[in-house]
Amino acid sequence: MTPQTVTAARSPFALDDQQAYASWRATKLAQRRVPEPVLIENLADLSEAERDALLRACRPRNFALFRTRQPHVDVERALRSFGRRIGLLDLDQNLCAEDSGVTAITVKDTGTDHTYIPYTNRPLGWHTDGYYNAGGDQIRAWLLYCAQPAAEGGDNELLDHEIAYIRIRDENPEWIRALMAPDAFTIPGNIEGGEQIRPDHSGPVFAVSATGDTLHMRYSARQRNVVWRDDPHTRAAAAFLLDLFKRGDEFIFRHRLQSGEGVISNNVLHRRDGFRDDPAAGAKRMIYRARYYQRLPLPRED
Ligand SMILES: [Fe+2]
Repeated sequence: MTPQTVTAARSPFALDDQQAYASWRATKLAQRRVPEPVLIENLADLSEAERDALLRACRPRNFALFRTRQPHVDVERALRSFGRRIGLLDLDQNLCAEDSGVTAITVKDTGTDHTYIPYTNRPLGWHTDGYYNAGGDQIRAWLLYCAQPAAEGGDNELLDHEIAYIRIRDENPEWIRALMAPDAFTIPGNIEGGEQIRPDHSGPVFAVSATGDTLHMRYSARQRNVVWRDDPHTRAAAAFLLDLFKRGDEFIFRHRLQSGEGVISNNVLHRRDGFRDDPAAGAKRMIYRARYYQRLPLPRED
């Protein structure tokens, strides 16, 4: 047996390896500790011990909370340095990103004729970031940092996409197979001012790395501008996910980021509540976000 076949045979994401799945699943579901923020003295100068603590904290659920003691004058610069120190290098430049690749998400006029919900105070449904990107430009990690919470609302909910995988596979493994099809989920092209600024992007919902040990998810709960492959398993899986979010799951983690708090994640499923700003009282929600093409370099074992 070659080393590659050994790796492939042990992948918890291989549908024909029930044993590898069962043991990975048991470990995953046993990790029930509520995430506690990792304290970071200075985002711009992450220490080795803080970095280790942060990455270790990410392992059970593919995300970790952090809290910094110092307010930052130049948050974007501090976050760029923070990401680099963690080992995340490629910043996604999206349509509305400022030059640094760190985006300030706040209520603002985006200067386009399309309403980007992230820049309004409206709720944002369940999704993974970059679900509309082309296959080669998948967002595998992101970080959020809260400089200022809203006067009211704006809570986030996070769900490890590996838990979503487990819930679906336990219900019907054929649904996982359907969601791994290269045309499971299509985002039609984006047309602005009569011009196509993004072509159609088809891809799988779940993709497993070549090494078999990491799982990527591409998902949006939006009903508009999302085309699911028209077959019974894909439709049933999409409906099951919507229902899961409606029913709730014990692994859904709800948190309202305070000033100086943030999240790093392997692009887990997430959403946010609507909110109310009160700029006169200094309560205008300001969240910074950075996106990366690589995953967090999580340690395998303690
Ligand atoms: Fe997002």
